[in-house]
Amino acid sequence: MLRKLLIGTALATSFAFSAHAADVKEVQMLHWWTSGGEAAALNVLKQDLAKEGYAWKDVPVAGGGGDAAMTALKAMVAAGNYPTASQMLGYTVLDYAAAGVMGDLTETAKKEGWDKSVPTALQKFSVYDGKWVAAPVNVHSVNWLWINKAVMDKIGGTEPKTFDDFIALLDKAKAAGVIPLALGGQNWQEATMFDSVVMSTGGPEFYKKAMNDLDDTSLKSDTMKKSFDNLAKLIKYVDPNFSGRDWNLATAMVIKGDALVQVMGDWAKGEFHAAKKTPGTDFLCYRFPGTDGTVIYNSDMFGMFNVPDDRKAAQVALATATLSKSFQSAFNVVKGSVPARTDVPDTDFDACGKKGIADLKKANEGGTLFGSLAQGYGAPPAVANAYKDVISKFVHGQIKSSDEAVTELVKAIDDAK
Ligand code: BGC
Repeated sequence: MLRKLLIGTALATSFAFSAHAADVKEVQMLHWWTSGGEAAALNVLKQDLAKEGYAWKDVPVAGGGGDAAMTALKAMVAAGNYPTASQMLGYTVLDYAAAGVMGDLTETAKKEGWDKSVPTALQKFSVYDGKWVAAPVNVHSVNWLWINKAVMDKIGGTEPKTFDDFIALLDKAKAAGVIPLALGGQNWQEATMFDSVVMSTGGPEFYKKAMNDLDDTSLKSDTMKKSFDNLAKLIKYVDPNFSGRDWNLATAMVIKGDALVQVMGDWAKGEFHAAKKTPGTDFLCYRFPGTDGTVIYNSDMFGMFNVPDDRKAAQVALATATLSKSFQSAFNVVKGSVPARTDVPDTDFDACGKKGIADLKKANEGGTLFGSLAQGYGAPPAVANAYKDVISKFVHGQIKSSDEAVTELVKAIDDAK
């Protein structure tokens, strides 16, 4: 679909702009980084590029998880109006590359040695047909709990190590009159949480089979049913106003102490950072109970389009800045993620960031690093969207039982494949 839609514009664009002209000193970037923490992180990049004389042309499209942004991108590209780069998640990069609209950064990658410093898991999504088409910005992971420390102390809670411990902790918060679980009722947030529930319920082998290999037997299994039952247990601890709430407002509930905990990717830590909160003192970061030792990851990539010649120098400057060691540290400290290179020191990171870096290294070496299905690293976008839809229908009561949920999930994934 994407291929058919885009292929004509790819040719039209490259003919129209083949003449050489003075370089355009501007970077145009489409992204969905509109929360406080995200905007602060993006500023690090804007400032780095400004130092090199590049103006920043912002194309923000609000909506966590990026669904709205990806709709906007599709329209821009179909009109032959390519941004210098767009924020993208894994399989989306590959889709655009297959449609023939991405640029080629291989020369820059060689000069900068990206193949040695970028983890193989990320290269699978940033290199297409032997060519670098995207610059990985970071590695996020989704299997985290973000906890208000004062509330935790007040209820006498300790780190939950198992799913049952987690339920007991949520019960304590409820008994103390605090909203136990802060959640935004949007499909991508619900599915992002479900990624962790599946890992906790079935373990790493099961997660891989069901969520990355899309193995039918696993998707239909009792373990998957149990995962839905566990999700239903968690939803009981969410406040009644959760429908449609943005993820960063859910994080704010934890920051303020209105809620005990949020299950969210470590972009949530960017919000704590922006609110000048310190791990260990103001908040706690634990792995989702029963998932310690595994990392469910996603990575923001700057997908680089095949822009006209006079905009290529700006693109190279953006890519080079993005993968520089100093930027990788400065940006990710603010964003809540960890570097997309293996050779960046953890010195400037807080305790959660240091844990994130160590966890990623261990998971990468130990074979327990898996792509998030909700966040574009488990399967192509059509499958991920089908998954998000089923999870959300279950959370909002349109799918009424775990039996029905499993049947619907298998069907939706089959249709989308
Ligand atoms: C992106 C993060 C972003 C989050 C919420 C995720 O898909 O990877 O960079 O902060 O969405 O907007």
